[in-house]
Amino acid sequence: MTTPLLSVRDLRTHIPTPRGLVRAVEGVSFDLERGRTLGLVGESGSGKSMLVRSLIGITPARAERSGEIRMDGEDLLRLSRAGLRRYLGRRVAMVFQDPMTSLNPVVRIGRQLTEGPVRHLGMNRRRAEERALELLRQVGIPEPERRLRQYPHQLSGGMRQRVMIAIALACEPELLIADEATTALDVTVQKQILDLLSHLQRERGMAMIMVSHDLGVVAGRTDEVAVMYGGRLVEQATTTALFDAPRHRYTRALLDAIPRMDHPRGTPLRTIEGSPPDLTRTGPGCPFAPRCAARVDACVTTEPQLVREDGGHTHACLVPVGGPRRTATAVRGAGT
Ligand SMILES: Nc1ncnc2c1ncn2[C@@H]1O[C@H](COP(=O)(O)OP(=O)(O)O)[C@@H](O)[C@H]1O
Ligand SMILES: [Mg+2]
Repeated sequence: MTTPLLSVRDLRTHIPTPRGLVRAVEGVSFDLERGRTLGLVGESGSGKSMLVRSLIGITPARAERSGEIRMDGEDLLRLSRAGLRRYLGRRVAMVFQDPMTSLNPVVRIGRQLTEGPVRHLGMNRRRAEERALELLRQVGIPEPERRLRQYPHQLSGGMRQRVMIAIALACEPELLIADEATTALDVTVQKQILDLLSHLQRERGMAMIMVSHDLGVVAGRTDEVAVMYGGRLVEQATTTALFDAPRHRYTRALLDAIPRMDHPRGTPLRTIEGSPPDLTRTGPGCPFAPRCAARVDACVTTEPQLVREDGGHTHACLVPVGGPRRTATAVRGAGT
């Protein structure tokens, strides 16, 4: 077996706050192969952003990370923040929900696009500008020459997000992380940007982590999907397996909450009852147990461990949809 591009084992990110220790990421393990796309889904507050931020070391200053994050075998948790930025600067890029907070409002688009290649790839400014034009064309921005001289506020939301993607691609990253990259955009623009991301990912053979609170966004655009609940990965499988035969009760509930075109008009949209877990809570049991209709006594007293079934499908549910399988084995380094 080859080394995965990214290999995460038992990652924890805990943030001390006045209301207690927030266990935003709690024992997360997964692998990502080169050129593959992983969808990361879960309700708002489940720890998706904290997980991807933990990978590249941009967590709040007080946050403590433990576990293992390996990129090409190198343990990223052993690097200092500065060392990490140097190491990841050109290899991993991230696109956030709100481009206005990550674009510098007083710097022209052109300058923001050339900064990375000049710093990380040692390009001279002329060459970097030619590349900037090329990148703007690739992300579908009309009149790129004019755009280079403009400031972020002169662009629409969708155009700004395209610029962010161009900046992210400028150093030819091996891994692109898109955290709710289209959530702030209207539906039509959202689809265009998601399709653009998928197209660029395939064309460049980049690995990608696509983060969304919306399962519909990752369906059809990812190879695998990981489902996060209460700071934990509770299920991971190929996208087809996850949609066709989810094993975890929470995933089932998420799928049931998606509006479907083939349902008769007026079918009420199911939502998941109860509130998301409090991440300061400790104690035994499955974090989803309080909201789970299939809960048995053991769910309240025992924390389910992540197990791997045939085909690499993993889940942490004591009463999986479709019943337990005898072939399931514990995932190394997952949980406690
Ligand atoms: N800067 C912070 N300080 C303390 N807690 C935070 C901070 N940012 C996020 N959190 C908490 O971490 C948890 C996970 O948040 P987040 O990763 O943003 O969730 P998601 O991206 O899935 O919506 C939440 O309980 C949130 O309140
Ligand atoms: Mg988030």
